[in-house]
Amino acid sequence: MTQPLKLGVLISGSGSNLQSIIDNIEKGALTATIKIVICNNPHSFGITRAQKHGLPVTVLKHDDFRTREDFDEELIQILRNNEIDLVVLAGFMRILTSAFLKAFPQKIINIHPALLPSFPGTHGQKDAFEYGVKFSGCTVHFVDEGVDTGPIIIQSVVPVLQDDTRETLAARILKEEHRIYPQAIQYFADGKIIITGRKVHIKDASETPLMALHNPSLTGF
Ligand code: GRF
Repeated sequence: MTQPLKLGVLISGSGSNLQSIIDNIEKGALTATIKIVICNNPHSFGITRAQKHGLPVTVLKHDDFRTREDFDEELIQILRNNEIDLVVLAGFMRILTSAFLKAFPQKIINIHPALLPSFPGTHGQKDAFEYGVKFSGCTVHFVDEGVDTGPIIIQSVVPVLQDDTRETLAARILKEEHRIYPQAIQYFADGKIIITGRKVHIKDASETPLMALHNPSLTGF
């Protein structure tokens, strides 16, 4: 049997994506193990979630470090000590330095609550909602030097409904985040991901049927 993929999960907030990873591991759907959860916010609910499942958690307050580089150096050490195979950013609200990226080449992934390259940055759901798009969604991607610019692994599309609020749209997107993040990690665990430049190819992926989506629906056209 193949060894479970060793994950280092970095969080800052509610940790619902961490929870979906934990749940999928516990039910045997995801061949991975969480070696360490690192959190830069001592008030994050994600810490409680991790502890509840007996996972090791390190709280690392970025304010305690003189520079961004010093903070990242500590992160690198902790992740190396835990011999992790993949760094999973799950709502981790810090920009990483190039030293960090170099320490884990093609081994850092992130989830973003919009259909990249549209609406990068901290307020993906809100920005898409205010723009008035008819579809939005979420994206799992590799992390590179830019903000939400790395090669895309998987995306999920959701409609924006006419009576949506920012909150109802964000909730619809979050539900999909909880599905595509474990899926992306499993692709990685299975060695199915091939990156060529900006393009990610998933070996043996079953692709979406070739059909167009419309929102609102067409009236017979
Ligand atoms: C998610 O919407 C994620 O896409 C974004 O931050 C949020 C984190 O949510 N990067 P949670 O902490 O996993 O609940």
